[in-house]
Amino acid sequence: MSKKATLEINGNKYEFPIIEGTENELGIDIKTLRGATDGITTIDPGYKNTGSCQSAITFLDGEKGILRYRGYSIEELAEKADFLEVCYLLIFGELPTAEQLEKFDKDIKEESQVDEDMKKILDGFPKSAHPMGVLSSLTSALIAFNPGSVDVDSEEEMYGAIVKILAKFPVLAAWTMRKRKSLPLDYGDNSLGYVENLHKMMFAKPNQAYEANKIVNDALDKLLILHADHEQNCSTSTVRIVGSSHAGLFASLSAGISALWGPLHGGANQAVIEMLEAIKADGGDTAKYIAKAKDKNDPFRLMGFGHRVYKNFDPRAKIIKKSAEEVLGDLGIEDPVLDIAKGLAEVALKDEYFVQRKLYPNVDFYSGIIYRALGIPTEMFTVMFALGRLPGWIAQWREMRLRKEPIGRPRQIYIGENYRKFKAISER
Ligand code: SDX
Repeated sequence: MSKKATLEINGNKYEFPIIEGTENELGIDIKTLRGATDGITTIDPGYKNTGSCQSAITFLDGEKGILRYRGYSIEELAEKADFLEVCYLLIFGELPTAEQLEKFDKDIKEESQVDEDMKKILDGFPKSAHPMGVLSSLTSALIAFNPGSVDVDSEEEMYGAIVKILAKFPVLAAWTMRKRKSLPLDYGDNSLGYVENLHKMMFAKPNQAYEANKIVNDALDKLLILHADHEQNCSTSTVRIVGSSHAGLFASLSAGISALWGPLHGGANQAVIEMLEAIKADGGDTAKYIAKAKDKNDPFRLMGFGHRVYKNFDPRAKIIKKSAEEVLGDLGIEDPVLDIAKGLAEVALKDEYFVQRKLYPNVDFYSGIIYRALGIPTEMFTVMFALGRLPGWIAQWREMRLRKEPIGRPRQIYIGENYRKFKAISER
């Protein structure tokens, strides 16, 4: 395989190195393009063909439906690891020893208090505020109460900021839900595990003892693992580019939460349930919605279907679909929306429109069904996605800073007006 790419423009030839990753991915290194060609750039809307960085965190193979975190398969991690272990793996690159995990857990628990004045900021939001908007604002507000976590350069300072946000983020996420339900805000119980404490903070009632449920806890832990990282997706790229200006970790995460909120990205899990409910209300007429999704004149899209990278089954969707059936069975829940989802997928996967475009169910297609079975309100689904994605965002931000990546600043091709002289208003 040649290690060089040649570009010919106006009879001039330019050579660029081809770099190869550890999974044999090839990329043309065009770092010298503008200089060598006296100003020529590339254009790639949505960066569909453009790599922004070299990363050692997550590997995806969209054609084969492979997803690995630091080399470990998502199937094994979902089956054998717990979420806190996966947080450590993504951020520091290795599965922790028992001692490392114990110290990580202890360091996080020591930071799980949130300044009481943060509750005044939360109080300022109307109950109707979408939890993702509240969470993004509260994450940014954390900066004011943790100024030492802003400009972190050393690995030690980074570690301090990392355990702080891993500790406080679940508290803030739980508070966004309890605010909507007018429930008191608390810090949970540090004697519980990370995910069990999250569940307690979300659901504990002030007037009765909290009872943990292993089925619910295991399902939640698995869902968070499945959402933990996904290489250079929209929200992760946002976290990296904001962090590339040396904005702090919390500010970069706040931006990532906003990017994840969009219905084409993490907001899709909420949109999927709303779509399935609409189909149910419409008599379960899946054929009508498949036709709408195929109609170029109809803005409707089959939410939870399609993916920028996976042109085969999203491996996470396969695991979540199986887990949805198990959890609903274990909890004795009959959810007609699951049957509608399965029926919709069955029809779409045989339809030429979806087959030709390689559109398969993605991570968001079934996740909402489990969240709903766990008693999580629909408007909190994308917050659950953010809780899972937190370690991935942190890992990617840390890698970008440790590799001293340059500030992100893409170029453009200008298509506006050529020079024109200013006109006084009397002449316009
Ligand atoms: C996530 O990047 C990641 O890794 C994201 C994520 C992560 O873990 O971070 O995996 C999480 O965001 C999953 C995706 C959740 N979004 C949705 O489910 C929303 C519905 N899906 C689409 O909007 C769409 O598939 C995207 C946004 C996911 C991907 O869009 P692309 O890669 O830009 O593809 P495209 O819009 O150019 O579509 C190609 C064709 C088009 O048709 P043609 O113009 O070729 O005729 O496929 C069609 C699209 O109209 N198409 C769909 C469709 N998705 C694509 N048609 C109907 N329904 C859909 N869902």
